[in-house]
Amino acid sequence: MIVLFGATGYTGRRTAEAMVRRGLRPVLAGRSVARLTALARRLENLGPDNVGTENLGLEHLGSGKLEVVSADVGDAASVRALIGRGDVLVSTVGPFIRLGDPALRAAVEVGAIYLDSTGEPPFIRRVFEEFGPLAQQSGAGLITAFGHDYVPGNLAGALALRLAGSDVHRVEVGYLIDGGGRAQLISRGTFASLVGLVTEQGFTWRDGIRTEPPGSRIRTFVSGGRDCPALSIGSTEHYCLPRLAGTGGLPEVDVYFGWFGPAVRAVQLYSRITPTLLTMPGARPVVRRIGEFAARWVAREPDPTALARVSSHVVGTAYDASGTALAEVRLVSGDPYKLTAELLAWGAQRAAEHGVSRPGALGPAEAFGLEALETGALQAGLRRL
Ligand SMILES: NC(=O)c1ccc[n+]([C@@H]2O[C@H](COP(=O)([O-])OP(=O)(O)OC[C@H]3O[C@@H](n4cnc5c(N)ncnc54)[C@H](OP(=O)(O)O)[C@@H]3O)[C@@H](O)[C@H]2O)c1
Repeated sequence: MIVLFGATGYTGRRTAEAMVRRGLRPVLAGRSVARLTALARRLENLGPDNVGTENLGLEHLGSGKLEVVSADVGDAASVRALIGRGDVLVSTVGPFIRLGDPALRAAVEVGAIYLDSTGEPPFIRRVFEEFGPLAQQSGAGLITAFGHDYVPGNLAGALALRLAGSDVHRVEVGYLIDGGGRAQLISRGTFASLVGLVTEQGFTWRDGIRTEPPGSRIRTFVSGGRDCPALSIGSTEHYCLPRLAGTGGLPEVDVYFGWFGPAVRAVQLYSRITPTLLTMPGARPVVRRIGEFAARWVAREPDPTALARVSSHVVGTAYDASGTALAEVRLVSGDPYKLTAELLAWGAQRAAEHGVSRPGALGPAEAFGLEALETGALQAGLRRL
């Protein structure tokens, strides 16, 4: 059984649509049964595209009404009741640092397979460091940040690692954007998640996870003939790529996010004062309240016309110890929310039909295998340049 928690949100609704188009019959879970029922009715009119629905005998495929279930993160038992051992739980309930724990904890407790749409570094860190060891014991498989953030970088980095062979000292990943102009390209939910991050620490990988403020470093990538400045961030690549590197290990992983455009220096300046801000009593609630106030001016959904113009580029490069590039892989996709929805739908189906490689907190390539991930990512709209 596949359960989609957060189905009434922007990303949840798009994920539900992507699942139904794949022929899946997810259980739709959220706070409001009335809104879930309305969504289920709308989805019934959406025919499956028959993409990858080879195993039509499985219970998550088929026809008929979609089941809806009420669950609230404020009531942990209602979240736990959504799933049993071996089920697949997909959560788009965010901000994850504030609302993500109950779904994650439920999956760990019952031994389910869990995927989420987070892009929040502190949450990712907890999935790998706190919940991963518990999942190994219970038999749960946890695949966090299985969306635009950060599947493309994991894929590009893993492919570059494989192409480069031995002697890789560092893998560098850059997320870059083109098009969209000045229109609103993020949902209010994403805005709320970003606001929650401004008082949080980040991390990188230097022979192990090292704490560092987000945006500590700026790197300029060239994409489509343009210079694209990007800031360092913590993401899943830092945990996952070293595990794929084999016996030689991978001493350094760097991931950069280039969506801030000309504001990159201002964002970096802010990140430099973050450690001081963190020491001030009451700083977190104040920043959160400012963010909640500002969110009123952010539309619930991004501008669909602008999103349709966006192209998202991801470059993964493997370097040797002298800094010479050994291999580079570039991937491109369109609307990042569409990619997230399609990836989550593909991942849920793959997990329901084939399981994941082993229990614990897993990277995308580790969970599904590099070939299967590349095939699934292509179906989702992420292709090599
Ligand atoms: N990694 C990526 O590339 C990527 C891409 C897209 C989104 N995201 C992340 O995904 C998250 C969701 O984004 P969004 O655009 O879908 O935001 P959204 O539209 O605000 O959706 C948030 C969802 O959380 C639910 N929720 C809130 N409080 C809840 C509670 N107490 N119990 C149960 N459910 C609760 C909401 O339910 P109601 O409908 O009842 O309010 C809604 O379904 C954000 O953290 C965003 O940053 C990441």
